Amino acid sequence: RIGSVLSGGGSAPTPNNPASWADMYDGFQERALSGPLGIPIIYGIDAVHGHNNVVGATIFPHNIGLGATRDAELVRDIGRAVAEEVSGTGIDWDFAPCLCVARNDRWGRTYESFGEQPEIATAMTTLITGLQGDSLSEPGSVLATAKHYIGDGGTTGGDDQGNTELDEAQLRAVHLPPFEEAVRRGVGSVMISYSSWNGVKMHGQQHLITDVLKNELGFTGIVVSDWAGVDQIDGERGFTADEVRTAINAGIDMVMVPMDYVRFTELLTAEVTAGRVTMDRVDDANRRILTKKFELGLFENPLTDRSFTGTIGSAEHRDLARAAVRESQVLLKNEGNVLPLAKSSNRIFVAGKNADDIGNQSGGWTISWQGESGDTTPGTTILQGIRDVADPSTTVTYSADGSGIDDSYQVAVAVIGETPYAEGVGDRPSGMGLDQADVATLQTLRDSGVPVVVVLVSGRPLDISAQLSTWDGLVAAWLPGTEGAGVADVLFGDHNPTGTLPMTWM
Ligand code: GLC
Repeated sequence: RIGSVLSGGGSAPTPNNPASWADMYDGFQERALSGPLGIPIIYGIDAVHGHNNVVGATIFPHNIGLGATRDAELVRDIGRAVAEEVSGTGIDWDFAPCLCVARNDRWGRTYESFGEQPEIATAMTTLITGLQGDSLSEPGSVLATAKHYIGDGGTTGGDDQGNTELDEAQLRAVHLPPFEEAVRRGVGSVMISYSSWNGVKMHGQQHLITDVLKNELGFTGIVVSDWAGVDQIDGERGFTADEVRTAINAGIDMVMVPMDYVRFTELLTAEVTAGRVTMDRVDDANRRILTKKFELGLFENPLTDRSFTGTIGSAEHRDLARAAVRESQVLLKNEGNVLPLAKSSNRIFVAGKNADDIGNQSGGWTISWQGESGDTTPGTTILQGIRDVADPSTTVTYSADGSGIDDSYQVAVAVIGETPYAEGVGDRPSGMGLDQADVATLQTLRDSGVPVVVVLVSGRPLDISAQLSTWDGLVAAWLPGTEGAGVADVLFGDHNPTGTLPMTWM
């Protein structure tokens, strides 16, 4: 009698390939349909920059890079491409887009935000339209999720799952507009934030969930908790009857209980039997969930539509991702027109730990929850992109730490920045500067006297004030994903850099 299943970050079948995902999904669905109620499950996953749990999927730029494009139509097209790849594995529900308005880039989830101003996230709700199509029952459409309601990006100090200290007017002005637009666009679900509002956990906020989201905005879809989010209401580990009751009565319709769902069901049944949770509330939650299952066509077509499986990592989707990478590049310095690089008869020295690393250029939420360095999934590194776009008459030499550079090279390209992280693991309450490896690499390049162009691969602005004056060029590449050639398209001038900062640079 399980109604819904999810894959958390990195949760995948073995082997991790599209066919085995679809087989796994169909297996779960057939079990659900064989149960006494015959109600299909709905299966959710975090496809937050492509179908990122699946090896071989197209990995698009993370939201901060899409925010830099300011191109809402491009983002809608990305939503459709992601929906096709997700549908190709059978999965019906995407826990995306994050409509968080990141107000402090110390926050480890800054890169999941489209930017610091609500207007950008509001504009990029076109991702919802791409994911859900004109109708959820259309082939390839999946349920979208506006998350995390509300104020996740506004916590004091950028503390992930921390406390957003604003009066209601400020909360509404900064963090509500993207959700208003998402509801207007018919988003099918809203996920509640782990964070607190003025000291009260969002998972227990009846005023904001029921009075504001459901009644004032008229949201008729599914309100879902975050992963074990109910457990945090009382500040203690695990969940209690009080927490279950508080969350359901606050207006949460589906609780993401990753482990102890049997005990959850027992506690909730006892609360309903005791009359502390009304059957009206339970019926309202079930009606919202079943309505989305019907709208998705799960009762008529519960199994994977394998006509979409071949779209996973397709050339068409990768071309779209490369276009998004191009548009997301932000040119921040170009001393003496060191850019664009000459394509032919040039000698280019490429350095930096992020030049030839798919994992680093994709960031968190890639194959595993935290992401990781290395050759984690098929794609084109920034270095390979430089090699592909340059003319054969040009020499491209690579050395991660810069050793071997000499003044026979016309230019050095240093691809540096952050290594992957997700959620609170990425919080940076202290320094926001470059790591020692990058500082050493830059010094080696500087000592050679060759002009240096820095390509910063990061999930947020970093503190580069100590080094910026020694650089000739600087491009913010954000977290481009698998199609690194899009960076080369800008470096060589095939695409005029049009990206603009979605976050103030400190
Ligand atoms: C995570 C994230 C949320 C995600 C959920 C399921 O902790 O906070 O964004 O959708 O759990 O993976």
